[in-house]
Amino acid sequence: GFWMITVFGSINLDLVTRVVQLPRPGETVHGSDITRFAGGKGANQALAARRAGAEVRLVGAVGQDDFAGQALAELRAAAVDLTAVEERGDTTGVAVITVDEAAENTIVLSPGANLRCEAKQIPRDAFAPGGILMLQMEVSEHETFAAARLAKASGGCVILSLAPFQPLARDAFSDVSILLVNETEAADLAGHYGIEGVGYEEIVQALAGYLDVTVIATLGADGAASSQSGGDVIRVSSPQVTPVDTTGAGDTFAGVLAAGLDAGDDLANAMGRAAVAGALACTKQGAQPSFPTRLAIDRALTRD
Ligand code: RIB
Ligand code: NA
Repeated sequence: GFWMITVFGSINLDLVTRVVQLPRPGETVHGSDITRFAGGKGANQALAARRAGAEVRLVGAVGQDDFAGQALAELRAAAVDLTAVEERGDTTGVAVITVDEAAENTIVLSPGANLRCEAKQIPRDAFAPGGILMLQMEVSEHETFAAARLAKASGGCVILSLAPFQPLARDAFSDVSILLVNETEAADLAGHYGIEGVGYEEIVQALAGYLDVTVIATLGADGAASSQSGGDVIRVSSPQVTPVDTTGAGDTFAGVLAAGLDAGDDLANAMGRAAVAGALACTKQGAQPSFPTRLAIDRALTRD
């Protein structure tokens, strides 16, 4: 890449158990043995971008417990720059995840140290024209948008994943360049603004026009759709895979998209690679261990 991508966001340890069917309220079901995977939307995006070939720095916070080392292990092994990750408070973020036979998941998030990370941890050199800052909604909203403001003011590109979903006011997006949503988030956000559309392409286009940003919606097996400020919709497809665990697929899309843009790909090409990477990540258990390398993405693209 030309620049170092900076990711400001959450770092979690994912505790995962597999069940036949997700429990209903008041119900007890048996799960498989607990498996620990490194996760957290910020950490996941950083690793996905790194595996796709970018230079990446993660800015966030972990606790002073055993979980911190495990949560950072994959990032360390992949040489993501962790010098701006700080120890704050006792507990590292934990996500308690259940995955059912259809590869659907539910997540209970215990944010711990993630709520203590601050925009001022971000090294100044992250804010430069052409620099990419990646944000999600798992750390303080106030700090997230403070970071967006600094990046935008210096001519950077701000990519925000609206996950977990928050029904933000329209002007919250004034410092966002690219808004990433999945199907549900796209529909919920459009509903929040009273925007109607027949199908996702129309919704994406209307949202992008209303917010005056580039909106990219990931559409699961149907690939992804984007529009820049309400302009023509770009569609990319997704290779058909048998999903095992979809956890982190959206983060993979985000990270690989950023890596592509950083390397000079146009939006359609970057989206195409990101969709392939997201599909590949669904074919393996866990979040971070399932994220593909650049080589794996290239191979999957030439198979199509
Ligand atoms: O997006 C997937 C991530 O969300 C998981 O890794 C989990 O940590 C939750 O934060
Ligand atoms: Na996975």
